[in-house]
Amino acid sequence: MKPTGKMFDDFFKKVIDENMQTHNKEDKVKDFVDVLLGFLGTEESDYRVDCSNIKAILLDMMLASTDTSVAAIEWALSELIKHPRVMKNLQMGLESVVGIKRVVGESELDKLEYLDMVIKETMRIHPVGPLLIPHQSMEDCNVRDFFKSKKSRIIINAWAIMRPKCLD
Ligand code: HEM
Repeated sequence: MKPTGKMFDDFFKKVIDENMQTHNKEDKVKDFVDVLLGFLGTEESDYRVDCSNIKAILLDMMLASTDTSVAAIEWALSELIKHPRVMKNLQMGLESVVGIKRVVGESELDKLEYLDMVIKETMRIHPVGPLLIPHQSMEDCNVRDFFKSKKSRIIINAWAIMRPKCLD
């Protein structure tokens, strides 16, 4: 565990150091790390933002974005393999909008309605975070017949919400 932690720490330190060198250049297109560096040394509410906070945010973003995307793509492909008719429809839609010689461009996503449906249905049947992440109520509240006092730990069963029959 410790060597892995050090490896990540060194990697993020390198990213931060490289960005610091170019951070103030006028012609630089600002990226996510630049935005975080803008908070360095400032006091955000009661917290002071330093390099270790930036490293922690980068690690959070990396973990939150990689495994989730990989799992969602693997589930989509596995469902498409099990449903050849849907795979064919999707391929036809992609071929007509994008063709077969290049990857999908962001500006084309609006036209790929069937792809949108495939992704949404995949995430409905196989939510990557079935219980989301734990939340906390900011004040006393009622959810239907249940009273939740301020600062209660709230776990949301997104898996069941996306299968309405399970809620009957
Ligand atoms: C298919 C891809 C993804 C799925 C299925 C997914 C799913 C989720 C879920 C279920 C949550 C918890 C939401 C909650 O409990 O309120 C979450 C939170 C989060 N995700 Fe993703 N995510 C994906 C991609 C990404 C990517 C690409 C990024 C960053 C580039 C990202 C960054 C985050 C962050 C920072 C949070 C915490 C938000 C907060 O503090 O409220 N996720 N994601």
